[in-house]
Amino acid sequence: MSTPQRSVISDEEKQFFLDDGYLIVRSVLQGEELRRIQQAMQELTDYGAQTVRDDPDYMYGTGPNTGKPVLRRIEYVIDKRDEMKVLLGHPFILRSVEKLIGKDLIPTWDSMVLKMPGEGIIVPWHRDAGTECVGDTPIFNVDFYLDEADEDTCLWVIPGSHKWSAEQVQEWMSAHRDADLNREHFRASGAVPVLMQAGAVLFHNILLLHGSPYNLSDKLRRVVYYEFRPAHVEQELGPHVPEYIPLKQRVLLSCIEKRKQADHIAEEEPYVYNPPAPFTVQWTPGTELPTYRYAHGDYWRK
Ligand code: NI
Repeated sequence: MSTPQRSVISDEEKQFFLDDGYLIVRSVLQGEELRRIQQAMQELTDYGAQTVRDDPDYMYGTGPNTGKPVLRRIEYVIDKRDEMKVLLGHPFILRSVEKLIGKDLIPTWDSMVLKMPGEGIIVPWHRDAGTECVGDTPIFNVDFYLDEADEDTCLWVIPGSHKWSAEQVQEWMSAHRDADLNREHFRASGAVPVLMQAGAVLFHNILLLHGSPYNLSDKLRRVVYYEFRPAHVEQELGPHVPEYIPLKQRVLLSCIEKRKQADHIAEEEPYVYNPPAPFTVQWTPGTELPTYRYAHGDYWRK
């Protein structure tokens, strides 16, 4: 069964996101597109889990039981697989991002975060970034769930915490320090479990307090994070240098084009990327980019 794709999030959903710092949208990825993304990311998961790769894009944590390295994150998934380029062009997602931050949106991070079965790595309470690069709009991740997330594997969030001051966050964190960050800790903290099905999407503000316990269950939980920022804020505050902006704009344009060409995508109204001056960008459809991997470390401000 598939649900028809909506054009964009509603005004009520936008308001919920602004008030609470997160928003769940069900059944965004379905059918063949979901299946192909799951398969592509399974290939990367298998590659990364087989042995500890000497590659900075594959990141490992320490397994809680064995003390051995366990795969926890893979960076730059758009460069690694065409299915992920096609996903970046998703028109419902891009129109919803535009509704939240404006027409000068640019893609920044593209990562897969995972909880391996048996020894899924903990993610302690955190904000994804500080407030120093946040301007007049929210900055957020769009999290595509490739597997179900239940109370064994899910993310926990503190609704509204994206509006807290740094001092409030510090205070809350020290009140909720715990050596053993298990599921009971997360439940007792007053956090909300983000229960998801494969294909659902979570928008989460980078200032929202969130985290997740070790996964000791036999379930695998993979999430792809695409982060977006407004170009005018990136230009003014970073964290990347301004030259990063047109590079990532071309990545976006190329991915929108690849989605139009993809044979597994059903009829849909493509997203039209039309950022205002001074962020208009030159790109000829069909031009292949040299890379889709612009490493953050090469573009940080001094
Ligand atoms: Ni995070």
